Amino acid sequence: MAIAKADVESLVEELTLEEKIQLVHGAVDPEGTATGYLPGVERLGIPELRLADGPLGVRVNGAPATLFPASIALASTFDPELAREQGTAMGREAKARDQDALLGPGLNLIRVPHCGRNFEYYSEDPVLTAAFAGASVEGIQSADVIATPKHYVANNQELYRASVNVNVSERALRECYLPGFEAAVDAGAGSIMTAYNSVNGSFMSENRPLVTDVLKGEWGFDGYVVSDWFGAVSTVSSANGGLDLEMPGVSRDELWEMFDIEPPEDDDDTVFGETKDVSDGMPDMTNTGNFAEPLREAVERGDVPRARLDDMVTRILRQMERIGAFDEDRSEVSAEDDGHRELAETIAARGAVLLENDGVLPLADDVDIAVIGPGVEEISTGGGSSEMDALHEVPTATGIDARANGTVTVKRGVPPIEKVSFFGGDDEDDDQQPEPTLDDAVSAAADADIAVVVVEDAAAEAVDRDDLTLPGGQNELVEDVAAVNDNTVVVVQSSGPVELPWRDDVSAILESWYPGQADGDALAAVLFGDADPSGRLPVTFANEDDYPVTDDATFPGTDGEVQYDEGLLVGYRYFDATDADPVYPFGHGLSYAAFEYRDAELVDDRRVEVTIENVSDRTGRDVVQAYVRPSNASDDRPVRELGGFTAVELPAGETVTVDVDLDDLAFSAYDETAGWTALEGPFTIEIGRSARDIEFEVTL
Ligand code: GLC
Repeated sequence: MAIAKADVESLVEELTLEEKIQLVHGAVDPEGTATGYLPGVERLGIPELRLADGPLGVRVNGAPATLFPASIALASTFDPELAREQGTAMGREAKARDQDALLGPGLNLIRVPHCGRNFEYYSEDPVLTAAFAGASVEGIQSADVIATPKHYVANNQELYRASVNVNVSERALRECYLPGFEAAVDAGAGSIMTAYNSVNGSFMSENRPLVTDVLKGEWGFDGYVVSDWFGAVSTVSSANGGLDLEMPGVSRDELWEMFDIEPPEDDDDTVFGETKDVSDGMPDMTNTGNFAEPLREAVERGDVPRARLDDMVTRILRQMERIGAFDEDRSEVSAEDDGHRELAETIAARGAVLLENDGVLPLADDVDIAVIGPGVEEISTGGGSSEMDALHEVPTATGIDARANGTVTVKRGVPPIEKVSFFGGDDEDDDQQPEPTLDDAVSAAADADIAVVVVEDAAAEAVDRDDLTLPGGQNELVEDVAAVNDNTVVVVQSSGPVELPWRDDVSAILESWYPGQADGDALAAVLFGDADPSGRLPVTFANEDDYPVTDDATFPGTDGEVQYDEGLLVGYRYFDATDADPVYPFGHGLSYAAFEYRDAELVDDRRVEVTIENVSDRTGRDVVQAYVRPSNASDDRPVRELGGFTAVELPAGETVTVDVDLDDLAFSAYDETAGWTALEGPFTIEIGRSARDIEFEVTL
């Protein structure tokens, strides 16, 4: 039967206390496909609810799906329309695999370059993050699947993530860390996942000020707030703080069934015990079932008001009603990935950022190429809950070999890079392959017209990178290859910023992040010029010591406390406020074409019209960026903030005028007593190609 909105309320009245409790904590999925599962209440026709990871595609055991590029690659396109398309595709694939909620997008701000999950997030800038968060949520939910923006809020590191207390000013929260989530709520997100960490003294699963007062009160969020897995730290404070659903919620005994492993002899604090070197970044998995029997008792004692429990259940049932879960004739969505494979390749190609190019790119079709690097025979992905089985994998070398007309020689050069996987990394049968040697790689490079060296980092959930140095002797590999081939192209498949010490010794550098399943095809399309590399950096690349998080107190924290002392000065805002120069600034990225900025004029106080011309002989893409510089920038306010951006494709020789809409956030300041206030004009609107490459200034 189709339940109308009104029925949800009457349904809640019919539910017994036990049935309500059953709806607010997870159980083991009897079909074993979901990451989180609610059994529903058959007596009243309330169906099951299945929640599945993750931000890069749907993980359902035994049902491979499209593995999209890392979220940081998607953000590099500066084209939120692609986020909407990707969200729609992932939503459809989730639905076709009988999942009702997708546990994404991940949209925490990229505060520190070392964070192990930067690849699952968008940017260091709140305006760019908000644009992608909103579009992604709209896409996912267009498929009648509940989006689950995560992790609310200030989960900007992995080390100690389940215990660290984030000390952050209200102003920095409001201006930097919250806007992405507010945009997700404005886009209609049906749920929000709370982070493991504490913010200003209370764990996010029981943080009443941020969950009840801001999220539900100020923003009017009417969906359900779900904990991160094992992140519901308590019963009464969490329920009364505003948490609505505990995941995975299973009892301790069910835990072993869920992970399909033998119960350990002693009560170790994580399911994985010491078998994983991620224990510092994992929650206490024995702290589970807080919204099961303990919640029923708390409600009976009156510690948790019955009205609060009813609200928790209402919020969940309302989302089920919204996605048609009660409808008997639920539309069966086809499982085929209709066009999703091409979309994943398009996003990976569009998200590649050309950092340097002396003209060696694009490649001629018939060149002889040496493809070198430890990971060229696999696709490059990050570790953790975003891992999944991809429908179509195209390893880096495979894609290049398929596209090239000349000879392609493949050499790994150095051993595979050690990676962390939550699902038991497929142990490559290394013994079948001869141990890679540097000499083999160097001689292959010497004999080829072009040497393409593909390097990678190894980021994963629950761990942060120790430094920004490429691991496993890859820097030496690049230097030795560049020494014997003047046409050395380096492709960096990384989770975020890395140091590039050899950047002056090579002919081109392409940052392709984790490209997802389309890896080799997307890279080949860019290398041979079938696609114009249109990516722009959503994060600042700099020498490690120049970032603002230089002492333990600011990252990863000391004695369980981390201080966000940099306040608003995250990313490019910090570099603008100090005399440290980035290696590659926020917004940087080259095209194979060439664009001249002809004119810029204000249409009104939130829109600029910019005229650009493609003065090259080939179609290309550019991203016109507008930065807002208030006249009264004080020492703790950013010099400039991204106000807006527009990605545009332009055929050779053509001229176009594009609109760049400016976000109110760039004109606003949050004052801890007065709340939101408008920054004082006059404002200088800077139009350019990056935060450091300004072409025009107009005064507002
Ligand atoms: C993990 C992650 C979260 C994921 C969830 C379910 O610990 O923090 O992003 O969706 O648990 O796997």
